[in-house]
Amino acid sequence: MNETGLSEEEIRNILNDSKGQDLKYERVLSSMCTYPHKIAVQAHMQFIESNMGDFGLFRGTYNLEKEILSLIGDLLHKADAVGYMTTGGTESNIQAIRSMRNLFLQSSEYQNSANSSKNSDNKCARPNLVVPDSAHFSFDKVSDILDVELRKASLDDELKVSVESVRSLIDENTIGLVAIAGSTEFGQVDPIKELSDIALEKNIFLHVDAAFGGFVLPFMKKSYEFDFKLPGVTSIAIDPHKMGLSTIPSGVLLFRDFHQLESLKADTPYLTVSTQYTLTGTRSGAAVAATYAVMNFLGKEGYRKTVSRCMELTHYLLEKLKDMDVYPLIEPVMNVVALEVPKCDLVRSRLAKEFNWQVSITQNPHGLRLVIMPHVSFEMIDSFVADLKKILDSLE
Ligand SMILES: Cc1ncc(COP(=O)(O)O)c(C=O)c1O
Repeated sequence: MNETGLSEEEIRNILNDSKGQDLKYERVLSSMCTYPHKIAVQAHMQFIESNMGDFGLFRGTYNLEKEILSLIGDLLHKADAVGYMTTGGTESNIQAIRSMRNLFLQSSEYQNSANSSKNSDNKCARPNLVVPDSAHFSFDKVSDILDVELRKASLDDELKVSVESVRSLIDENTIGLVAIAGSTEFGQVDPIKELSDIALEKNIFLHVDAAFGGFVLPFMKKSYEFDFKLPGVTSIAIDPHKMGLSTIPSGVLLFRDFHQLESLKADTPYLTVSTQYTLTGTRSGAAVAATYAVMNFLGKEGYRKTVSRCMELTHYLLEKLKDMDVYPLIEPVMNVVALEVPKCDLVRSRLAKEFNWQVSITQNPHGLRLVIMPHVSFEMIDSFVADLKKILDSLE
């Protein structure tokens, strides 16, 4: 650090230069984030210093958070669900599974088996979690941090998790299941009703990762069963900073029952509040205000319009690609498209190098992945398709 500070102008110049090096979303078809809504940005700035880690000092922001939880709980068919605003899907997933693991370790069955293994010198079995093979990589972090074995269930032809595979992986050390409502790579929705039935039958938890799909599915014409309406669903991750058009970092984690949240409790002796359930200490009150502002400004009608436009653009893209004999790996459920394209990796890198387009890749099956976020326009799609055509023609 310099001994004396730079001038405001010098700082502004450096920042402008750095900002100039960032890609504009107008060339990005790989991200699940987008420009936040203007009203979210204004609210974020207004609450910039608010720290939800010590919410006794920021009662107004805390009340906004409570309202958000009840709005989202209502959207997900449980207005009295409990939880908090996280930094996003990763933290929500970590905390949801941490709660499962804590409650599993406290259960009398586990305590009994731990006691008998102590007596017999056998090691107590490691808890495991059954996730779809399409689960976001945050679950690999979950496994590492929480020392939980990850059991990956295979997918069916439509890239939904196979219910039989899930069933076959469950044993007495399974702490719970994960279902995805809007998978990162394919935008697919797992058979959550069936998984909810299994969770109830086996008396285990079921966490739904709706980080992306949570602000899409409730606003689609077709209705999907993925939320607390299903009695086996015990927690949900949903991210306002993705399709919710809020600012980063805005995630929400909701639990069906208070005892799940309670299992995350830590004492906080020197704060204005005596307990915390969150993973991080200091938390952005700005993101809370932003999420409150955009959700109330748009209302369901506003999100319906946003989702409907993204889907219109998605279908427009597919029609144009059909003319080029390029087809999706699965019929898109939401605004995520995985395309069957030859030499995907090469096509991806040429799109970036020659035309400055950012797209991504799906692993299994291998495909070119596009996310049609609210910053995408018809012109953007026309221009992208023309550039993709040039590359594909040159491969022949
Ligand atoms: C389904 C799903 N879950 C979790 C995450 C992780 O979210 P974040 O990057 O906000 O932590 C993502 C990110 O794209 C996702 O698509």
